[in-house]
Amino acid sequence: MRIKQLAVIGLGLAAAASAFAEGGDAVRGKAVFMAQCAACHLQKASDKSPPIGPQLYGVVGRKAGSWDHFKYTDAMKKAGHVWNAKLLDTYLENPYSLVPGAAMGLTVPILKNREDVIAYLTTAPEELKQTERAP
Ligand code: HEC
Repeated sequence: MRIKQLAVIGLGLAAAASAFAEGGDAVRGKAVFMAQCAACHLQKASDKSPPIGPQLYGVVGRKAGSWDHFKYTDAMKKAGHVWNAKLLDTYLENPYSLVPGAAMGLTVPILKNREDVIAYLTTAPEELKQTERAP
């Protein structure tokens, strides 16, 4: 009985600790992106992407698996959702929980890194440059 209660409290705390919040730090997120995503993705207005992954420019608000110049898995093409910050958080924490059969073999276990990289993906790169230049 006691152990059960403790387990419930423990689960509650774990849920609270992993609550995703929007408004991460886009400049720090760029560094996360360069370190963990740039080998396979670009975030730039362009028809090109590295050969391994789709272009992520404008991915927030875009339908999953819909960038024309990339050959997605059927799972991603059929996923059917439109990317928003919360769905990106779920996907980056565990791609397969959101899209079983997705081809992305990378997870971002640290919540702060997910918040910041999602802030970066939400910010147009041009805007970010202005932020960086600001005094
Ligand atoms: C090892 C290569 C690799 C790395 C590293 C990687 N990805 Fe991916 N990513 C992919 C592939 C491949 C797909 C396409 C998955 C599919 O078709 O099932 C993808 C798909 C995505 C999508 C869905 C895009 C769409 O158009 O629907 C998002 C969002 C995404 N990745 C974000 C990220 C972020 C953010 C990072 C860094 C934290 C990252 N990825 C790191 C390979 C990678």
